[in-house]
Amino acid sequence: MSLDHHHDEHGDKLLGSDDFQQARREMRRVLWRPGLRADTQVSITRRIFIHRALLGGTAAAAATAGWLPRINTMDMAFAQEAGPPSTFRFAWISDTHLYPKEVNTRFVEKAVRAVNDVKAMDPPPDFLIFGGDLAQLGDPVELKLGAEIINELDVRKVFIPGEHDWYLDMGKTWNELFGTSPWTFDHKGVRFIGLDTVSRAMDFWTARNMTPTERMAAMATLDGALGGAWAGLGREQLDFLDRTLSDWGTDRPVVIFSHNPLYEYYPPWNFWVRDWREVHEIVKPYTKITNIHGHTHQVLYNEIGAMRSIGMLATSWPWPYAPEGVPKLTRPMLRVDPGDPFDGVGWGQITFNADNQHVEHEYMMWRKDILATSQVDSGTGDNPTTFLSPRPDGR
Ligand SMILES: [Fe+2]
Ligand SMILES: [Fe+2]
Repeated sequence: MSLDHHHDEHGDKLLGSDDFQQARREMRRVLWRPGLRADTQVSITRRIFIHRALLGGTAAAAATAGWLPRINTMDMAFAQEAGPPSTFRFAWISDTHLYPKEVNTRFVEKAVRAVNDVKAMDPPPDFLIFGGDLAQLGDPVELKLGAEIINELDVRKVFIPGEHDWYLDMGKTWNELFGTSPWTFDHKGVRFIGLDTVSRAMDFWTARNMTPTERMAAMATLDGALGGAWAGLGREQLDFLDRTLSDWGTDRPVVIFSHNPLYEYYPPWNFWVRDWREVHEIVKPYTKITNIHGHTHQVLYNEIGAMRSIGMLATSWPWPYAPEGVPKLTRPMLRVDPGDPFDGVGWGQITFNADNQHVEHEYMMWRKDILATSQVDSGTGDNPTTFLSPRPDGR
């Protein structure tokens, strides 16, 4: 079979040939073993989506309580720190999906625009986190182009990889250019942790004698899902997370960066990590914990226990919402204008506010008025007839 007809993430050929369907079935049989499959019996993820603040009143009261109209500014409540806390900001850019310049300059222009926006922040951010999918097909040319663009920024930079950066040379170029993950650092009273959710995929390509290019193409599909449910942390990183948190007070703020969301939103697109249950076991005692992730390319918000998850915008293109599993707390973007490459995309600006002990996230969308305003549009309400709906177990 030929894979190269199916690697376009825009999805126009994803459901093409019988070959492809056949390969998908085969992959699913091999990779989606019990325990790795999305567990339809689990209801905890959906039931506890509803934040206490929302439980304080009716749904209508929730709509006027503040967070719905102000979704651009996510507040993450942080603890009182020992010593005077100080206000700081940091920036997130991810999912630039760069092709070599001679193939496609559109994504280059948008990455440059994001970098220029961050450059213009005043005061400047304390650091930039790049959240993965810098490249489109893991090509060293793409990764080096990305490094060039990002290195224009004269601030501290930290990096976590995306699957598009990894599966041509299994992270070799990425690690050389941007260092290895996981990592951690403390900054002004906040513990930051960067995880690698992409490199622990199960090896299906060796048995199929795939070339590195074919392997990368398989991993670069979204709904193609030839790569199976690849996203995960693996035992080593779960241990790392556990160790890293063990000497940190459970009431102190923690921010975890990951490319994929650390919960189960929609496994067929790897909008999850397969070991998310273990992650939640580890973070359970912590009361001020926030996961900031890429990969989903959309406005996205969720809470499970005390952990808040914020999905960040891509600079490249917005993904549609998954057909099911959209967290109830999400206020989705509307369909974007396909004629406007700057629609539905952007970057993220996060502020730790010393006065109110909050971190506020702002979606830096290049077009601002694309958030859904009614339940019918958002599809994440309880109306089962809407196109987007919570997964059945979460209704
Ligand atoms: Fe991406
Ligand atoms: Fe990704």
